[in-house]
Amino acid sequence: MKTHNALPSKRIPVAVLGATGAVGQRFIQLLDNHPWFEVVALTGSDRAIGQKYYETCHWILPTPMPERVRNLIVTPTMPVEINTPLAFSALPTNVAREAEPLYAQSGTVVCSNASAYRQEPDVPLMLPEVNPDHTKLVSKQQKDRNWPGFIVTNPNCTNTGITIALKPLYDQFGIKRMFIVSMQAVSGAGYPGVPSIDMLGNVVPFIQDEEAKMEWETRKMLGAYQDEQIALAEFNISAHANRVPVPEGHMVCLSVELQREGSIDDIAQAMTSYSAPVISRDLPSSPEMVIQLRSEPDRPQPKMDVMTGNGMTTVVGRLRKDPVFDYKMVILSHNTIRGAAGGSIYNAELLVKQNLLPQ
Ligand SMILES: NC(=O)c1ccc[n+]([C@@H]2O[C@H](COP(=O)([O-])OP(=O)(O)OC[C@H]3O[C@@H](n4cnc5c(N)ncnc54)[C@H](OP(=O)(O)O)[C@@H]3O)[C@@H](O)[C@H]2O)c1
Repeated sequence: MKTHNALPSKRIPVAVLGATGAVGQRFIQLLDNHPWFEVVALTGSDRAIGQKYYETCHWILPTPMPERVRNLIVTPTMPVEINTPLAFSALPTNVAREAEPLYAQSGTVVCSNASAYRQEPDVPLMLPEVNPDHTKLVSKQQKDRNWPGFIVTNPNCTNTGITIALKPLYDQFGIKRMFIVSMQAVSGAGYPGVPSIDMLGNVVPFIQDEEAKMEWETRKMLGAYQDEQIALAEFNISAHANRVPVPEGHMVCLSVELQREGSIDDIAQAMTSYSAPVISRDLPSSPEMVIQLRSEPDRPQPKMDVMTGNGMTTVVGRLRKDPVFDYKMVILSHNTIRGAAGGSIYNAELLVKQNLLPQ
């Protein structure tokens, strides 16, 4: 793989698939004035096709809808009518399963948020701060499936913060097992998501298919690329998933048993000194601080800390000894920014830097 610092000489035209939903809107917001990418096409469901974006999108973000997309006409997701080198997918999983291969077949690189292809052995499941070398799977994917394009995925929004926080501990101490309990924001269910009457003043201790993803995806991302596949990291995870009435920001209480001993200062030092691999630094979406470790007894909190590093920094707090495991902590990550659209854009920037995106 070539890894020189070639930046695009002009902005790369991109499409957003499923542009009217919670994640689609984040893409539109984060891609406005992006130095490398320019949104030129939007797709949606049947109800939106043929309408101007501003007419059909119920905009839910606190910043105004960007002027440059307001009058774009929403096109069908399938069959493929657009021909951009890059598409960001914010499609529901069942739609992504059918649509994303069609885009890859037509030569488009798809950076997907959907879970449809995360478990495929030839599809990278990516966090640039953690496993930029997993894009080596791309050539096998293109060869085996005979696709000129390809699919790269980002993880479930809960696994994002967990995996980033654990990466320095996995590298320095190894991991034996862990126990995690999530408190996930309502925006994680998309728009309109969970009915307000089920959510207000309540906690729902069930999110469809979530615990299985939480127990598997971290092992793929911390796994090693060998012989054109990823050897899963060898540890067990027990996960509980809860939906809580918080707008944005997934919080996780995590207890971990390590393979090798380390003092609490060693653990703290490993996390605070962690930097992304060189190739993933200094990209437009790279967080200045990968992990922020807070020392106050009552932080992180979604209300106060979710926008740390423009929503791209993983915030950890309450690091302390655990009487059953070794250490416990609380992790906070922005679910629609770092855990979805922002993460997917960061993946695409990495692909540009690795010369994997046609320009
Ligand atoms: N929300 C998060 O925090 C988060 C985090 C990580 C990953 N994800 C994943 O990202 C994807 C999008 O999630 P979301 O939260 O944005 O969901 P969402 O708010 O429900 O948005 C889904 C989008 O897909 C469109 N769509 C629905 N059915 C379609 C069809 N048959 N054909 C074409 N387009 C269709 C929707 O159009 P309409 O507006 O017309 O319904 C909307 O634009 C999902 O796969 C989700 O699992 C979400």
